[in-house]
Amino acid sequence: MDAQALENEALSAIEAADSPDALEDVRVQFLGRKSELKLALREVRDRETGMALNAARERLEAAVDERQATLERAGRLDAAEGLDVTLPGDRPPLGHLHPLTQIMREAEDIFLGLGYEIVDSREVETVWHNFDALNQPLTHPSRSPRDTFYVDDNTLLRTHTSTGQIRVMESRQPPIYIAVPGRTYRRDTPSPKNTPVFHQIEALAVDRHITLADLKGTFAHFCRAMFGDDREFRMRTNFFPFTEPSVEFDMTCFLCEGRGCPFCKHTGWYEMGGAGVVDPAVFENVGYDPNEWSGFAWGLGLDRIAAQRHGIPDIRMFWENDLRVLRQF
Ligand code: PHE
Repeated sequence: MDAQALENEALSAIEAADSPDALEDVRVQFLGRKSELKLALREVRDRETGMALNAARERLEAAVDERQATLERAGRLDAAEGLDVTLPGDRPPLGHLHPLTQIMREAEDIFLGLGYEIVDSREVETVWHNFDALNQPLTHPSRSPRDTFYVDDNTLLRTHTSTGQIRVMESRQPPIYIAVPGRTYRRDTPSPKNTPVFHQIEALAVDRHITLADLKGTFAHFCRAMFGDDREFRMRTNFFPFTEPSVEFDMTCFLCEGRGCPFCKHTGWYEMGGAGVVDPAVFENVGYDPNEWSGFAWGLGLDRIAAQRHGIPDIRMFWENDLRVLRQF
């Protein structure tokens, strides 16, 4: 056997192989168990021939490996050329803001349009900011740990956003036009109208000569911007220790449109939140002169606003994370 001629023949065959399959055929032909080279190696008797044939085998194996790498690289390039980057891809499912977040942002926008400032206030509060400064009597039931989540004797989860009024008034001088949106906490049993975690948006205006008429006008604007012109609202008297006079805002029940149904306890009205003219005692607690300044405040339930806007009869649905519900908004 002419080892040199065989090697040359094999090398040009390897070079000529133009696909992995063709290369494999060449490899079997020249390096396989039954190839001329392997058979010759098996018969070898003298050291010199053995070394020469083995060296030839190694060179051929290396040539096959190299050719294989080259063919694979070319294959990858071909595949990339076949890739059409203009074809539409798989669209990942896109989420959206939770309906409560959407409503909160809309409410903020309405206030911004009126020139109010949006203020973030803390959720873990002192008893002073949640009750004392707001003129809440020591005997008021809402102070009880049965109604309120306490962290320790002097620290609690705010039960309303009215704490934001005190925080802002303690830190600056009037005039003040702010809205404080955020989470609030009460030990309530979950029901269609109450959840232990809920949301409010507080409004506070402090200036000279502010009256109940300013409160009503501002609320009317807020309602029209939020619900359109068709919905009716009413103010009825109420009591809060931090406002005098105090009122409660109701809207026509969206379910029965005011005719009366079990949902609105046959009143035709749905409670949205409390409001009033800031009590002089509150101004004194934050160091304002009640003879110089007057103001109004309100706290509206954002979950209830969202329920009214979307016709949702049970605010617990906002917390259940059922996508069939949430996807609708
Ligand atoms: N903080 C009251 C509540 O949560 C609402 C309120 C706010 C009433 C501001 C008057 C003024 O029920």
